Formats: sequence, structure tokens, C-alpha cells
Amino acid sequence: MRIARDLATLRAATARLGPRETLAVVPTMGALHAGHVSLIQAARQAGATAVVASIFVNPLQFAANEDLARYPRDETGDLAALQAAGCDLAWLPTPAAMYPPGHATGIEVVGPPTEGWEGDARPGHFRGVATVCAKLFLQTGAGMAMFGEKDWQQLQVVTRMAADLDIPVRVIPCPTVREADGLAMSSRNRFLGPEARAKAPALIAAMRAAAARIAAGEAHAAVLADAAAALTGQGFGMDYLALVEPATLQPAPPSARRGRMVAAARLAGVRLLDNIPVPESNT
Ligand code: PAJ
Repeated sequence: MRIARDLATLRAATARLGPRETLAVVPTMGALHAGHVSLIQAARQAGATAVVASIFVNPLQFAANEDLARYPRDETGDLAALQAAGCDLAWLPTPAAMYPPGHATGIEVVGPPTEGWEGDARPGHFRGVATVCAKLFLQTGAGMAMFGEKDWQQLQVVTRMAADLDIPVRVIPCPTVREADGLAMSSRNRFLGPEARAKAPALIAAMRAAAARIAAGEAHAAVLADAAAALTGQGFGMDYLALVEPATLQPAPPSARRGRMVAAARLAGVRLLDNIPVPESNT
């Protein structure tokens, strides 16, 4: 596996990786777990002939009050994980390589799918994500880009951005990888203490139970209000729990029995994000 830390090295390395159409990029912020690794495997399954994974903790997508400084970093472990997964090229830009002095351009997806949910909870976040992803697509020239469904709204924002800017890249959704007890894998899960870690799967359990009731015909507003109240009672700080239109993230109409259920909850200072299709078999 080659490693590039500046744009000239990246460009020289990608040029040697064969056709751009079947070069896949896997953008990450590092602290890699099995969910990230699954994106490399998914790239191969989708026909990628070469894979470039980026590791870059993107300062532009963190607000001043957020956890940029304490975001987990493990370059040695990450490079070993990428190598073991069969990644061809690791792109590890420094902040100055990504945003040289004088950098002044941002990409902003306006309106749906950025409105609501994470867009409201984290002002400026999707502008940072769209900007760095557009740069990663253009820097690597990849024809395929692998994104996890774990971050459902991000997946929709990036898909919209690539289409709107006519970037010749296919954004390919990949299923959420979960721990045995159902908790969606996340780099931030390592901050859960033993008690919070034991409690965390209650979120996805409540979501699955609610999905079954909605699919069976109960009104989603009432079902989700019940579920949120139960989770609050168990110590979760609920930011949102809602049924939305999958591509636009707009709230589903009151009679809807299908869509995407999205949730964000705080548990012992850690923010948990999850989402599932409704009905659940509809993946
Ligand atoms: P990060 O949180 O490191 O996630 C990188 C990619 O891994 C994203 O596409 C994310 O959806 C996916 N992923 C994370 N956990 C997953 C899981 N349990 N199952 C499947 N896929 C999972 O998301 C980002 O970084 C950044 O915003 C980024 C896109 C790299 C832009 O900076």
C-alpha cells in the first residue's frame, strides 16, 4: 500500500492505479473500525479495480464547540487496518495540504437534504463535509465513492452535491455495520464508559420496535413520541427521532408507513446517530 501526504504524490500514485472509472475512494476521518473496512470490501464487490482511502480529520466540519481536539486519532493502527483490507493507496493530507493559506472556496448544498436534523444540530457541518468531499473527489479523480448509510443525511448531501456539480463519480451507499448487540459502529463509541456502552443498544432496539409498529399501521408521530419518551426515561438525551423521506430528509406525511427513521441521542456525553429503513426489510 502506498501512502501519499501531499497532492503531487497523490496524483502520481492515482495515475498508476489504472482506469479512473473503477478507482474507488473511501473518505474517512480515521480511528478506523469494521464499518470503515466494510467500505473497502464493498468497493471491491461493486467492481473497483483499485481503492484509495483518505484519512483526514476535517476541521471545516467541526463547529468551535465540538470535539475536533479530542477526535480519536490512530495513524499506525489505521494504516495497518487499511493494508489488511487490501487498500491500494492511503491519502493522508495535512491540514495545510487540504486547505493551503488563502483557501477561500466552500461548497454548500442549500435546502433539502441539508435542512433539519444534523443540519440544524450542527450549523456549518454539511458545508464542511460537502467541501472536503468535493475536494477528495477531484483530488483522487475516483469514479466510485463509498459512503456508509450510518450517516444517512451525509450520504444524501454528498450524493446531491456530486450530481449538482457534475462530478463524474458514483456515490455508492453501503449498509451500516453493527456490534453484535445492534449498536452501530462509530469512532466515538470508544468514549462510552461501561455503563453507557451497556445502555447504548437500547436506541436501536427502540427504533426497530417502533419501525415494526409503524409498518403495521400505527401513526408514526405517536409511535416515535412514545419511543423517545421511553428512551428519555432511560437516560438518553433525545435530539430527534423521526420518520423522513429518504432522499430529501423532509418529514414524512402523517399517514406514511414507510421512509427512513433517523435518530440522534446523547448518552453520557457521547452523541449516537442511527437510522433504519421502514419497513425494516426494505434495505
Ligand atoms: P467517518 O465518520 O470517519 O466515516 C467515514 C465513512 O465511514 C462514512 O461514509 C461513514 O458513513 C462510514 N461509516 C461510519 N460508521 C459506519 C458503520 N458502522 N457502518 C458502515 N459505514 C460506516 O463521515 C465521515 O468520516 C466524514 O464526514 C467524511 C465523509 C470522511 C468527510 O470528512
